[in-house]
Amino acid sequence: MSRPEIRLQDLHPTPAELAVEVLAGLRRRPRYIPPKFFYDARGSQLFDAITQTSEYYPTRTEIAILQAHAADIAARVGTGSVLVEPGSGSCMKVRLLLEGLKPCAYVPMDISREHLRVAAEQVAAEFPWLEVHAACTDFTRQMAVPDSAPEGPRVAFFPGSSIGNFDPDGAADFLAVVAELVGPGGLLLIGVDLKKAPAVLDAAYDDTAGVTAAFNLNLLERINRELGANFDLGAWRHRAFYNADLGRVEMHLVSTRDQGVQVCGERFDFAAGESIHTENSYKYSVADFQAVARRAGFFPEAVWTDPADLFSVHLLRVAAGPAVAASGSSPSRP
Ligand SMILES: C[S@@+](CC[C@H](N)C(=O)[O-])C[C@H]1O[C@@H](n2cnc3c(N)ncnc32)[C@H](O)[C@@H]1O
Repeated sequence: MSRPEIRLQDLHPTPAELAVEVLAGLRRRPRYIPPKFFYDARGSQLFDAITQTSEYYPTRTEIAILQAHAADIAARVGTGSVLVEPGSGSCMKVRLLLEGLKPCAYVPMDISREHLRVAAEQVAAEFPWLEVHAACTDFTRQMAVPDSAPEGPRVAFFPGSSIGNFDPDGAADFLAVVAELVGPGGLLLIGVDLKKAPAVLDAAYDDTAGVTAAFNLNLLERINRELGANFDLGAWRHRAFYNADLGRVEMHLVSTRDQGVQVCGERFDFAAGESIHTENSYKYSVADFQAVARRAGFFPEAVWTDPADLFSVHLLRVAAGPAVAASGSSPSRP
């Protein structure tokens, strides 16, 4: 069978860009490497495996919300839009919406190039009537609909609670960029994880099978491979916990002994117990998230949650006037 036709705009970060951000993150205190670098091809596969663990409730809960309310979502959003999905991953959730929304084009955007290509081709094969214009890009640096995509009212879809990787100020800045992308009157359908018992959160980010640990440690393997570093993977362990004061789950890689590591010819010394902070995942109440969205120029149109109030899906609309100006956005720093 011939490969389905998709258009792929390739703005994948270069090795030099990876080196600059990793070195800057290792030089600062506390040390921090942004979560976007988890996602090489193996990282994307490991993320999909995380979504299958029994502890990781967000994916199955968000899917259940989208399934339960697909008709309502379709009625509110309407048909014929250019549907843009930043951080599209395996493009699983959008499949639940495509028949109802009948967009004139689908624009999956992701930093993980090969995973994006395969996922976009699969969507194109399953929905032959749909134009697919994929964009491999770092959405914290550049988020534009490829020129090849048709004109039409734009709708953004941002599931997976990826918004939680930004701190609330960064989230408002990022949403303002999305507001600009969809334009006045444009819509955003976004999945947002809710505050809940810390034990549920701790387990979700530290599953007993060790899949999330492998996902976190894969970052060091990637840095070894792509930047010629010499992290000893046996001397690092995964740590994840809910920080109630800051309302976020934190993921870290903890050095299990005193050690020196070479990255791009630079030596970094780590004391036993010292960590590299690799991800934040902020949790919201519905009202707190709506307040962040309003700061970005969005107004709440609808919100759906599951019966246990684990997760929320919001439909937001950009006000007719200009959105609050974005001051640049990047996932939260510790
Ligand atoms: C947590 S996964 C969510 C995947 C999917 N949206 C879902 O709901 O299951 C985050 C996705 O966003 C992508 N991603 C993370 N940071 C990114 C960035 N800065 N620019 C573009 N894509 C990014 C990752 O490659 C990954 O596919």
